[in-house]
Amino acid sequence: MARFVIEGPAKLKGKIKVSGTKNEALKLIAFSIMLQKPIVLENTPNILDVTKQLEIFDSMGGLHRLKYHKLYLDSTKLSKTRLASTVARKLRASIVFIGPLLARFGKVTFPLPGGCLIGARPIDTHTDAFKQLGAQVEEKNLLLTIKLEKPLTNKVVLKEQSVTATENVVMYCAGVEQEITIQNCAVEPEIVHLCEIVKKAGAKVEGIGTKKIKIRGSKNLKINRVKILSDRIEAATFVIALLATKSEGVVYPYPKENLVPFNELLRKTGANVSFKGEKAYVGKFKPLKPFKITTAVHPGFPTDLQSPTSLLALIANGISEINETMYENRLIYLNLLEKMGMKVRLLDNHHATITGPGQLKATKITSLDLRSGITMIIAGLMAEGKTIVENGQIIDRGYEHIEQKLTKLGANIKRMR
Ligand code: EPU
Repeated sequence: MARFVIEGPAKLKGKIKVSGTKNEALKLIAFSIMLQKPIVLENTPNILDVTKQLEIFDSMGGLHRLKYHKLYLDSTKLSKTRLASTVARKLRASIVFIGPLLARFGKVTFPLPGGCLIGARPIDTHTDAFKQLGAQVEEKNLLLTIKLEKPLTNKVVLKEQSVTATENVVMYCAGVEQEITIQNCAVEPEIVHLCEIVKKAGAKVEGIGTKKIKIRGSKNLKINRVKILSDRIEAATFVIALLATKSEGVVYPYPKENLVPFNELLRKTGANVSFKGEKAYVGKFKPLKPFKITTAVHPGFPTDLQSPTSLLALIANGISEINETMYENRLIYLNLLEKMGMKVRLLDNHHATITGPGQLKATKITSLDLRSGITMIIAGLMAEGKTIVENGQIIDRGYEHIEQKLTKLGANIKRMR
């Protein structure tokens, strides 16, 4: 168990480096199972979710080495088709092993996955997609087994534009020598990059970046090296941290083209942020105009940015509106911010308003999930006095050495056990 102790208010200054994307690294670890030769993933974030995903990978017979953000993965001797239950149950992203294992071995057994407690998050989009392809799905003692020797059809329509379901089916199709069309795909930047990687590895892929992807896979996929994208959620979160603490600084590499709705929000609120090359510059503080955000699948406003963005309402003059359309439990953190003095009206599970400007009071709070956890850290930087953020290990799931990055910017934040 970890907790963070923050002395606020913080004035930050300097440059902050964004790590590689969690939600790409986790999928590429699984993808390496389909490769004939080892692969090196550059810019791999050293975070808890990656450690857990690698634990699952190793327990099936994979070999890995992670040094200086370079992750070497060798699956040539991997032979097991069952995910280690204890770890996999705690990590929802472990579900992305399904596609690669099915493509290579025709069989996979896994526990129903866990992850952050942010909503119901069923996995039926995944199981339904593989059933459409002809798979048999059996449940026994809370374990699911999927068997699919070879696809019996050449078309899959995803029930929902699910990120991980799209990735699972794309990876599966990349490993079978048959043309398959996948419809209703999610189009997040990490999926676009995955399709490009799959293509470079030797599969034929059409429709990259659209909802309809056509793939003819190969049993002979090879790719030596991939550079993981800069984490768009972390990049925007650091911009929020600088704005919310009325600080100045530089966030890099800032993947501007993958953050269009967030950049648009900054523009509309009048935030003093400019972009040059791969950098985002946060300038002298200016109060913001109130705003409205509505989360949606890409290219909409990312749900993973919803909670940190709420803090911008505290430096805006007027009433801001937050609409969370994807998860039913992802506004609960607002109760904690209310305890710190935020003027919040929680209208229902999906809608809230926040009246700004406002000043937060330091107190003892907890991290409910990864994204609200980082929100509490920034709230601690904004508040006057000592804020204690309990359950800090949840933040380690997706943010690498967060206290070190913030300390470099001048924050007074300490990790305690
Ligand atoms: N949903 C809808 N409508 C849609 C699509 C999805 O209501 O059109 C709902 C689903 O029912 C579900 C939720 O939205 O409750 C998310 O669905 P999805 O299957 O896309 O989520 P996921 O693939 O399990 C990934 C990320 C999440 C991120 C979501 C949405 C990974 C490992 N996880 O989850 O990341 O919130 O996509 O963008 O890639 C995080 O990083 O903190 C995180 C939770």
